[in-house]
Amino acid sequence: MKKSFGFLIAAASLVLASYNANAQAATADIPADMNALMSKYTCIACHRPNQRLVGPAYVDVAKKNYSDEEIVNLIYNPVPSHWPGYPPMAPMKQVPKEDALKLASWINSLDGGAKKTSTKKTTTTKTTKSTKKA
Ligand code: HEC
Repeated sequence: MKKSFGFLIAAASLVLASYNANAQAATADIPADMNALMSKYTCIACHRPNQRLVGPAYVDVAKKNYSDEEIVNLIYNPVPSHWPGYPPMAPMKQVPKEDALKLASWINSLDGGAKKTSTKKTTTTKTTKSTKKA
């Protein structure tokens, strides 16, 4: 636990140092309460709403149409294969579920205004192949 937290701090400060120049402008579109959570749990070091940093922009995460719960799970157990070309994100198990959910629903709210009506496509057209053996 301690070890991985140390790693996160190291990674976070490294990233913060290199992105400090444009950090201020880029955080302008983060609401104050989310900014507080992002800073507290170091998400801010790697994520921005509209900009790729170390991790994907949250608008791009929103496009994946995860449920809030799914995002919470991904914060605790990232699946790096979802984001080819990015380094793997470390599991952030220190984030309390309540705060993880707040972040998740905010991330989902960033879906570029192109809100899809919540009717999830249920195109389960089963192609029942009749591969009967003679
Ligand atoms: C040290 C950098 C770093 C930190 C800190 C970090 N992330 Fe990430 N995050 C990444 C990277 C890189 C990816 C893409 C690769 C991956 O998913 O493993 C990612 C992916 C994600 C995804 C997409 C998951 C998916 O599978 O589509 C979400 C959501 C996310 N991060 C949220 C958060 C939240 C919330 C925090 C703070 C609690 C956080 N991240 C902290 C680097 C980071």
